[in-house]
Amino acid sequence: MVNLILREVADDDLPLFFDNQRDPEAVRMAAFTSKDPEDRAAFDAHWTRIRARDDILIRTIVVNGRVVGSVLSYVMEGETEVSYWISRDYWGRGIATAALAEFLTIQTTRPIYARAAKDNTGSLRVLAKCGFRIIGEDRGFANGRGQEIEEYVLELAGGVTG
Ligand SMILES: CC(C)(COP(=O)(O)OP(=O)(O)OC[C@H]1O[C@@H](n2cnc3c(N)ncnc32)[C@H](O)[C@@H]1OP(=O)(O)O)[C@@H](O)C(=O)NCCC(=O)NCCS
Repeated sequence: MVNLILREVADDDLPLFFDNQRDPEAVRMAAFTSKDPEDRAAFDAHWTRIRARDDILIRTIVVNGRVVGSVLSYVMEGETEVSYWISRDYWGRGIATAALAEFLTIQTTRPIYARAAKDNTGSLRVLAKCGFRIIGEDRGFANGRGQEIEEYVLELAGGVTG
């Protein structure tokens, strides 16, 4: 039985977030990542910046008392987008789906958007299960792949809660 809660980010969560975002398999999967996932100073500066912003909502995901990742929303060119990252040890247990569904009860902006590399099957499935639909595609340089790749743009329309 999984007991999942979302709570505000604590300083002690950051070492695990750092490990998550430098896991090579996860970096490849997420694709649109930081330039150098091993750069702790850049990671710290990034998290200090995003935690201070009023237009970014971040929650730590805690499962059975253990921190397993994060879920967040940010504003890009006027549109609110969500993203999430789970420790590899916890993949495949429905955690991202449950965490995003819960997050969408506190982040109630609609429509709300997400992006995922076209081959990030896991993330696309998480989004579909939470009610997101593909509305377009884009192309951009993915640091996690060292090349330009294609991604889907997805939308959760107003009134749909998944
Ligand atoms: C993508 C990610 C968030 C999925 O987390 P998760 O907790 O394993 O996801 P869930 O267990 O909720 O899985 C939801 C669905 O996706 C499927 N899925 C998960 N990972 C998958 C994979 N690698 N390949 C294919 N399907 C996958 C599950 O089988 C499940 O589908 P089902 O309900 O039809 O069986 C996780 O792998 C991760 O953090 N990856 C690195 C960061 C990242 O890619 N973030 C998203 C950026 S857009």
